[in-house]
Amino acid sequence: MKNIAVFISGRGSNLEAILKKRSSGYIECSIPFVLSNKADVLGLQVARKYGIPTYVIDLKSFPSRKDFEAEILRILSFHNIDMIVLAGYMAILSKNFIESFGKAIINIHPSLLPSFPGLNAQKRTLDYGSKFAGCTVHFVSAEVDGGPVILQDVIPLFDDDTEETLTMRILEREHLLLPEAVKIISEDRFQVIGRRVIIEK
Ligand code: GAR
Repeated sequence: MKNIAVFISGRGSNLEAILKKRSSGYIECSIPFVLSNKADVLGLQVARKYGIPTYVIDLKSFPSRKDFEAEILRILSFHNIDMIVLAGYMAILSKNFIESFGKAIINIHPSLLPSFPGLNAQKRTLDYGSKFAGCTVHFVSAEVDGGPVILQDVIPLFDDDTEETLTMRILEREHLLLPEAVKIISEDRFQVIGRRVIIEK
């Protein structure tokens, strides 16, 4: 059974989706801690509700990004973490961090990558006039939102969509997609060939 760390920065609804699937037995993994780069976010309460220990590691409390990431790596190593899930973690992880950890890091992003990487993806999808939106779970690489795609889900845009309605409709799909990706990756049911992630049924 894999040891998974979940990183958050906010509300934690994707974290809760994972924890629900774990409570029901659909995902079998250990989650030794949830890490937030921000204090007092709702996601920390979600973690506590499920009895998961939490860390708040804020870049601002460290003299440099290198020291900040060294502290996170120390915690990961202490808990023998096999995999990191970024569930609304809104900070960049450096190439050095990704290479030093050396194991799977996955991220959920609210667009159909490679369209609309970065911030405010839903608003930019709407403003662009796209006819479809969606979400992507991908491996994390040094390029922001640029690693190999594990799973994607697509929804149509409606003429009366606002940023809020689109965000909520994408989020509903995120809550299905991220736990599914966690299950697949934690069970080692995949191969990466070039950029293609082939999932074994
Ligand atoms: C989610 O929509 C997630 O896709 C997005 O932040 C939200 C977090 O919500 N992540 C990114 O935009 C990463 N680039 P949550 O805290 O309720 O899970």
